[in-house]
Amino acid sequence: MNSESTSSPARNEIFPGEVFVNTADFDTGIRRLLPKYDEMLDVLAGCIASNHHRILELGCGTGELTLKVLECYPSAEIVSVDYSPRMLDFARAKIESAGYASRWTGIELDFGEWANNPNFSGLGDKFNAGISSLAIHHLEDEMKLKLFQRIRESLTAGGCFWNADPLLAESAAIKDIYQAAREDWALSQGETLAQVRASVGTSVAYGYSNPDRLATLAAQLEMLASSGFETVAVPWKYYGMAVFGGFVN
Ligand SMILES: C[S@@+](CC[C@H](N)C(=O)[O-])C[C@H]1O[C@@H](n2cnc3c(N)ncnc32)[C@H](O)[C@@H]1O
Repeated sequence: MNSESTSSPARNEIFPGEVFVNTADFDTGIRRLLPKYDEMLDVLAGCIASNHHRILELGCGTGELTLKVLECYPSAEIVSVDYSPRMLDFARAKIESAGYASRWTGIELDFGEWANNPNFSGLGDKFNAGISSLAIHHLEDEMKLKLFQRIRESLTAGGCFWNADPLLAESAAIKDIYQAAREDWALSQGETLAQVRASVGTSVAYGYSNPDRLATLAAQLEMLASSGFETVAVPWKYYGMAVFGGFVN
């Protein structure tokens, strides 16, 4: 765990991954900040099979991916983990008002803690699927690998794990290309990227998470393969964002 990282940040600072100073700004702000956010989450939701009933979600935030999955799969039950009580409160309110409360359990927990502590059993039985969006890139690479291993151990045979996350560009030139795509996207939404970023907060390290610790797609696919995912794939990629993951036998 990061040293000096366990106390709550002052309220004008935010946990890594909360993104916006006001949690209420997240759902509209994230769609301006990131190109094709809904398309990315829709692809991720589509990678789950209808017989993947028990699903673990890491870093649910305000529940946007959670809701898409609960809507798509009427028999799905999701256990969502997030370390931010503010984000969990928003997720809970939206899930309750959508009528899905009986199929959702929200747990306030640092997923780095779960990955790092093999004796931690608070999430119950094995899962048919694991999902995550825009959260795991806050872990150091060593912890990403530990988390992928823990997810692999927590899946039933035939289970899958899908992650949507920003990627480390493979070179400075490619970073410029990815950045230009972000700028174009913001302009297409009627603002410059700098204007969209005005409502983004300053995050400090908290628990196992840090401000962005991006890894390349190749490095993360290698981590998944070495964690025991037999089939590894990238069903969606748009410049510096991807949905990637795989299946276990
Ligand atoms: C950018 S939000 C994404 C939320 C949602 N998955 C989405 O796509 O809209 C990232 C979420 O991950 C959570 N998060 C980041 N690091 C975490 C950790 N180590 N343990 C638990 N939650 C974490 C943050 O609190 C935040 O709610």
